[in-house]
Amino acid sequence: MITIGIDIGTSSVKSALVGEGEQVLASASRPLSVSRPASGFSEQNPQDWWQAVCETLDELKAGHPAELAKAVAIGLSGQMHGATLLDARGEVLRPCILWNDTRSAAQCERLTRAWPELGAVTGNLAMPGFTAPKLMWVAEHEPDVFARVAHVLLPKAYVNWRLCGDKVEEMSDASGTLWLDVARRDWSDAALAATGMRRDQMPRLVEGNAVAGELLPQWVERWGFERPPLIAGGAGDNAAGAVGLGALHAGDAFVSLGTSGVLWATTAAFAPAPARAVHAFCHAVPATWHQMGVLLSAAASLSWWAAMAGSGEAALLAEIGEKPAPSRCWFAPYLSGERTPHNDAAVRGGFIGLDSAAPRAEMTLAVLEGVAYAMRDAQQALAGAGTQLREADLIGGGARSPLWSQIMADVLNLPLHQVAESEIGCAFGASRLARMAAGAPLHSLARPARRRSFEPDPERAALHAERHAHWQTLYPMLARFGRA
Ligand code: XUL
Repeated sequence: MITIGIDIGTSSVKSALVGEGEQVLASASRPLSVSRPASGFSEQNPQDWWQAVCETLDELKAGHPAELAKAVAIGLSGQMHGATLLDARGEVLRPCILWNDTRSAAQCERLTRAWPELGAVTGNLAMPGFTAPKLMWVAEHEPDVFARVAHVLLPKAYVNWRLCGDKVEEMSDASGTLWLDVARRDWSDAALAATGMRRDQMPRLVEGNAVAGELLPQWVERWGFERPPLIAGGAGDNAAGAVGLGALHAGDAFVSLGTSGVLWATTAAFAPAPARAVHAFCHAVPATWHQMGVLLSAAASLSWWAAMAGSGEAALLAEIGEKPAPSRCWFAPYLSGERTPHNDAAVRGGFIGLDSAAPRAEMTLAVLEGVAYAMRDAQQALAGAGTQLREADLIGGGARSPLWSQIMADVLNLPLHQVAESEIGCAFGASRLARMAAGAPLHSLARPARRRSFEPDPERAALHAERHAHWQTLYPMLARFGRA
C-alpha cells in the first residue's frame, strides 16, 4: 500500500510519499520561521503549517501524480505541546505558543503548589513547554482570548482537523499537555479542573495507529486521490521518530538531534520519574509508554551559532577537521532555558574560556560538545529513573554530521547508529502509523537498515566523562546570571 507521512516540525514541514515496500518515493519540504516577540516567547502562525502542508502535497502531486493518487492513508507527526486555540467557529484566536516557549514558568510553580498529585497522574513536572501552563498564562494575560477558547489543539491535531474536519488527538502528543492521565490513556478531569479547563475543550482521543478520520472531499479532489485516504491518529514528533525506527519494545532507544535534543527510551509500562525532569509519556501505539530527556536547543544551538558567526552550518563544521582535540572553549546550550534535568526557564546559555588566539572552529566544536554534554545530563537523568541504555539510533538534522555523531558516541559512551531515512525520520514514522491504520499489523514494521555505526572510543569516552563533570559546574553559575 502507498501512504503519506507529514511532519509538522518547528523549522520545516516535510511530506513523504512512501511506497509498497516502505521505500520513500518522493518527499517535499517547506521552511517555517519562528517568531520570538519577547525573551522566552516562541510562536508560529497555524496558517503557515497548513500553507506548507498544501504546498508540499501540491509538489508531490506535480512530481508523482499516479503514485499519490493511489495513497490509502495519511499520518501526521508534529512538534509537541504547542497551544493552538480555536473559538467556537474554528477561528484561530492567537499565534500558537510553541514547545520551546518558556513564558509560563510562574504558572508552573502555581500549578505545582495547587495540585500535588500532578506528578503521579501526568507523569511529569509542570514545565513551561507543556500545554496546560500556557493556557494558564493566557487566562491571566489575555483573559478575553481565554474566555473564547472552545478548543485546544496541538499542532498536528490542528492540521489533522483541516484535513479531515474532526478534532482528534492521540496518546503520545496528548501526554505532553499535562491534561492526560498517562497510565489510563484518557483525559484527566482533575488535571483539567486544576488548570481551569474542561473536557469538552479537548479533542477526541484515539491511538496513533488507529483511524482518526477520512480526507475531506475538497482535498481528495485537489490532490487527485482515487479514494479518500484515511487519516491516522499520528504521533508527537518523537514518538513518530520512534515508530520510524521500529523502537517499539522496552529498552529500544534513540538520540534525536533536531531543533530540540531528545534521548528516548521505550518502556513497557508507565514509568514516571519527574524529579529530574524526565518525561514519562504514552507511545503512539497501544499499551506502550516511553521516557525521554529533552534539551530545548540541540541543532538549534548550531543554527544560532551559524547565524551569529555569519556562516553556514556545513562551512562551520568543515573548519573543525575530522578528529579534533577537545575544544579549549566551553558552551552551555541553554539559549531558551532547559528542561531535562534542570526544568529552568530562566537560565540562559554561555560560552566560556574564550581565547583571542583560538580560531572560530574552537567555538563551533564547543557548541557540538556542549550539546553532547547536555545530552549526557539527560542520559544520567534517565539512568536515575532506572533506564540504562546499551545502544541507540540517531535521528534529526544534526545526525547528518559524522563529526557530531562521533562526539555524541564518545560523550554518551554508547554505540550510536545512523539509519537510512534519518532525514525524514518523523514523516517516515507517521507514514507507518498511516500504514497500520489502513490494516498493516504492528509486527510487520521492520527496523530500517543501519547505514553507519559510531562506536565510542574508550580514551575519548574517559576524557569526556571528566570534562562533563567539569562542564556541569557551569549550570549553577549560569542559573544565577539567568535570574539576574
Ligand atoms: C518534546 C519537545 C520537543 C518537540 C520538538 O517534549 O518538546 O522535542 O516535540 O518538536
